[in-house]
Amino acid sequence: MALLDIQDLQTWFDTRAGVVKAVDGVTLSVDRGETVALVGESGSGKSVTAYSILRLIPRTQGRIAGGRILFDGTDLVTLPEAGIRALRGNRISMIFQEPLSALNPVLSIGSQIAEAIRLHRPVDRQTAWSQAVQLLDRVGIPMARRRADDFPHQLSGGMRQRVVIAIALACEPELLIADEPTTALDVTTQAQILELLQELQAERGMGLLLITHDLGVVAEVADRAAVMYAGRVVEQGTVAQLFDAPAHPYTAGLLASMALGELVPGSRLPEIAGTVPSLLDMPAGCAFAPRCTQARTACAASRPSLDAVGQGEAHRVACFLPLADPVASREALRAAA
Ligand SMILES: Nc1ncnc2c1ncn2[C@@H]1O[C@H](COP(=O)(O)OP(=O)(O)O)[C@@H](O)[C@H]1O
Ligand SMILES: [Mg+2]
Repeated sequence: MALLDIQDLQTWFDTRAGVVKAVDGVTLSVDRGETVALVGESGSGKSVTAYSILRLIPRTQGRIAGGRILFDGTDLVTLPEAGIRALRGNRISMIFQEPLSALNPVLSIGSQIAEAIRLHRPVDRQTAWSQAVQLLDRVGIPMARRRADDFPHQLSGGMRQRVVIAIALACEPELLIADEPTTALDVTTQAQILELLQELQAERGMGLLLITHDLGVVAEVADRAAVMYAGRVVEQGTVAQLFDAPAHPYTAGLLASMALGELVPGSRLPEIAGTVPSLLDMPAGCAFAPRCTQARTACAASRPSLDAVGQGEAHRVACFLPLADPVASREALRAAA
């Protein structure tokens, strides 16, 4: 059984303008000890997917309209509130997209970690404090014992991000969701933080769902990846499958405009001609069809399901005309661009 198994998730927001289908068909899984990247352009629904897993979508704004989120076999969509609260920050932790605002400015970093421990563990203050110091040391804060008394503003951005990671790890989660954990950092610090996350993931056998818009990060740290477009997963597979033989024209398009040498963390997602459809008014068929150079009439008529490419289940694509010869198609797309 996968640690996390999301099936056809739909998270919609009811707005004055209509129903925003921010997530409308996300299927992905994360195993123990595995790093899975969720990659997509800004606004494609990555954060809403992450918030949905932890049921952090405010009821007054939106709802999970369909699908299942199985965590170790339990459906989080239907789990009572008390059950989800017991999991949050405990068996499942999240590093938010804006980590610096995740810290409380008026509490020392040591006490913020100790508090996170005591929320789920029956330990006394002193024990929690010494565990907090150990965690600070593990995430690479020099002189952790002394620095534990520091307030967030006394630390650099990279050091603060390490503290945020320490808080996320406080209760030894089985699943860590990291939403663009390095976006706000300079390139050198980005690399160090990614390396730290990889080390911790391997050392603790956690499942890591790494959300990013950066294909370089995917290439460097992920085992598998799911590519999102306009609220849907359009392709998923091992990193090798996606980068060497993309089957979805959107994935191929992203890769085509990047030379292999550009696949280093910090590079931006390339631009593809056309615009993403409005989430308020999605086309009936494939969401990418209006921008797709391969599209035929069928593509606008109905939605393709996420089906296996070739043998095995690992590589899956939602496309009526998956690229049969991805290398040739990449060249064709490049020529058309
Ligand atoms: N509370 C909300 N009400 C209405 N629309 C929302 C709300 N939260 C997110 N959205 C919309 O959902 C879409 C996906 O957002 P998000 O998941 O944050 O994208 P990403 O993380 O991929 O950049 C965006 O178009 C965003 O405007
Ligand atoms: Mg986001």
